[in-house]
Amino acid sequence: MAKEDKRPVRPESDGDEDQDTSMDDSVKNDEIKGKRTRGSSRMMVETKDLQVPSGDGGAEYGTTPLVLDAAAAAPAGKYLSELEEQRAIARDSDRSLDERLEAFDDVFDSEVGDTSLVRARNIEREFGLRQLFLKFEGGNPTGSQKDRIAFAQVGDALRRGYEAVTVASCGNYGAALALAASVVGMRCEVFIPATFHGRRLEEIERLGAHIKRSPGDYETAVEQSQLRAATDEIYDANPGGPNTPLQLQAYGEISSEIYDELRDSPAVVSVPVSNGTTLAGIFKGFVRLHRRGKISRLPRMFGASSFGKNPIVRSFQRGLDSCRDLDPTKIRETPINEPLINWHSYDGDIALHALRDSHGDAASASDRKMLQHAKLLLEKEGLNALPASCAALAVLLERHAGEPLPPDRYVVVLTGRR
Ligand SMILES: Cc1ncc(COP(=O)(O)O)c(C=O)c1O
Repeated sequence: MAKEDKRPVRPESDGDEDQDTSMDDSVKNDEIKGKRTRGSSRMMVETKDLQVPSGDGGAEYGTTPLVLDAAAAAPAGKYLSELEEQRAIARDSDRSLDERLEAFDDVFDSEVGDTSLVRARNIEREFGLRQLFLKFEGGNPTGSQKDRIAFAQVGDALRRGYEAVTVASCGNYGAALALAASVVGMRCEVFIPATFHGRRLEEIERLGAHIKRSPGDYETAVEQSQLRAATDEIYDANPGGPNTPLQLQAYGEISSEIYDELRDSPAVVSVPVSNGTTLAGIFKGFVRLHRRGKISRLPRMFGASSFGKNPIVRSFQRGLDSCRDLDPTKIRETPINEPLINWHSYDGDIALHALRDSHGDAASASDRKMLQHAKLLLEKEGLNALPASCAALAVLLERHAGEPLPPDRYVVVLTGRR
């Protein structure tokens, strides 16, 4: 059985200064209070008898709670029972591997991806930018794009005979892997930095995964998870390892879905970045579509992250050819920027090349800006987005404010708020 590569992590100080990461109290108090269930965004409403959501972004639409299972229950009970049947087969270790894989693929196909691309007409009017589309990854089962790579890798692990998977995470990816592993009854170990404060811990445990608290930062947790994988023949789902092509391919689906809606490439795709896998995968997806003659141009990729806390953004801004690590002592997370900060980006080089090759751009947003844009999305478009992901909207609108972007199509990738 193949073991995963362990990549050395070598910090290199570049003297970056901490900038504007403190959360402004007025903004914090203003933070969006709306709870959401899957599909609570306005664009997810497809059922005829559902009513327009109230302005607080709450999850109730008329008397029908818009959770995937409930929305599907009456007319599509058959679909649900079939899905349950597929889940049972995927979990059943007495079944043949082929049967389990086929059932798992059915669950993967029906549950993950095909997220909405919605036009943000009200933000367009307010900011004078046409045409702005939001690719809302909150429609995935655990509310982020991480479900795409989690399911792809659990399928790969099952096919290759692994009995357990591991990853390091600050929450979103851990929840996604825990869910995917639970579908096939596979053991899942999630290494989480001791300083992590998110609500995801409970969800990860509820999904049956084992949480391993790591005493250091995210990069230390990755190292521990990689070591565990290498020592005990556990499938290593961390970024930057031998699974990178599979992860990029899974994220490339986002590009195909955008193409399916727009029938060509947008001018810009703006993406929140941490390790850079999402941005690199989306660009690769567009390159593939271009090579196949489906789109007339490649989009410019915009990368957005937290101020002074991301090696990709910093290396791009400094005109470097490869992604240089930041000084670990300068990285301080807050509950807002947590998903986006690192001193080492595991797919930094690929993401940096995507930014350069696409004549793209990269910039940072403060916690305050992320929260402001999350509020804007909720108030103007009825969308409950994770504030960190709103860095991508903040950066695009800031560019437009600096030098107006011509009328074209602009896509911002967002995740949901759980
Ligand atoms: C909500 C959210 N957006 C964006 C990212 C960045 O993704 P990547 O690590 O692929 O750059 C993350 C990473 O965890 C995330 O949780």
